Amino acid sequence: MSAQNAAGAAFVTGASAGTGREIALALASAGYDVAVLGRRTEALEALAQDIGKLGRKALVLTADVREATELEGALDKLLVWSDGAIDVVVNAAGTTGPLSPHIGDFTLADFDSTVATNLRAPFIVLNRLLPVMRKAGNGRIVNIGGNHGMRGRAGRSSYSASKWGLRGLTRSAALEAGPDGVTVNYIAPGPIAIPRMKANWKAQAEAGGVSEEEALRAYVANMGIPLGKPSEAEDIVAMVMYLVGPGGRNITGQELVIDGGATVL
Ligand SMILES: NC(=O)c1ccc[n+]([C@@H]2O[C@H](COP(=O)([O-])OP(=O)(O)OC[C@H]3O[C@@H](n4cnc5c(N)ncnc54)[C@H](OP(=O)(O)O)[C@@H]3O)[C@@H](O)[C@H]2O)c1
Repeated sequence: MSAQNAAGAAFVTGASAGTGREIALALASAGYDVAVLGRRTEALEALAQDIGKLGRKALVLTADVREATELEGALDKLLVWSDGAIDVVVNAAGTTGPLSPHIGDFTLADFDSTVATNLRAPFIVLNRLLPVMRKAGNGRIVNIGGNHGMRGRAGRSSYSASKWGLRGLTRSAALEAGPDGVTVNYIAPGPIAIPRMKANWKAQAEAGGVSEEEALRAYVANMGIPLGKPSEAEDIVAMVMYLVGPGGRNITGQELVIDGGATVL
């Protein structure tokens, strides 16, 4: 941990790519030392270097969040690094799992893997870190869910169920931890234009023989997004930073949907 001027210690899962990476960088820019977790050590080390360039310390934690022992081992290392104090936790690691099979064409292993990533892992993190934060009398936890945790969708049963379950975990943790000054909230993004999604849209354009703009327009129409565009990672980052900043002081147990209005209908 850096001895001087840290806003505190933050922990971000799913930081090796996409939205989690941007959240980790925003937290570092805001003065936090940041522990970053994922399976891809090289990507995490590159991120740690970027955090270093922002003048903050980083800890790289390599773990598969589906493996309880690995994740718990990483949490042990985290608490040693942070001298037992954690101010911000962002559970961003997530997977969509199989996208199109309907119930009946699904393997139990696929279902378990999705639920272990999106729901059980945040529980393991909270099970270890929430008592630490409650004892300290402060802390902010943000769970990254999805708008398919707010509604069902054919072909996304395991994803929807896991993100829906994360809402229950969020609300219950908020009720338990509120009296100790710890907030726990849930962000429900719709599609985010991160590299993985952009690659999907590009592939759809190539497969359909249309331009990338046309493919994106068709995707947006299919997803029923009134504002007519996917989110950018910075939209999710801004909400995380609001929740961990002064504005989030009295907000807990909430689900903040950032999806261009797709779930309003
Ligand atoms: N992108 C979207 O359109 C969208 C929409 C709604 C919700 N979300 C949610 O937003 C969050 C971030 O997603 P994203 O799409 O921005 O990121 P992404 O590019 O899909 O990256 C996912 C991140 O989660 C980590 N991760 C996945 N499985 C893991 C495992 N078993 N163990 C450890 N780490 C694991 C990955 O790290 P490694 O590969 O290094 O393990 C990576 O850092 C997720 O919770 C996702 O469900 C995304």
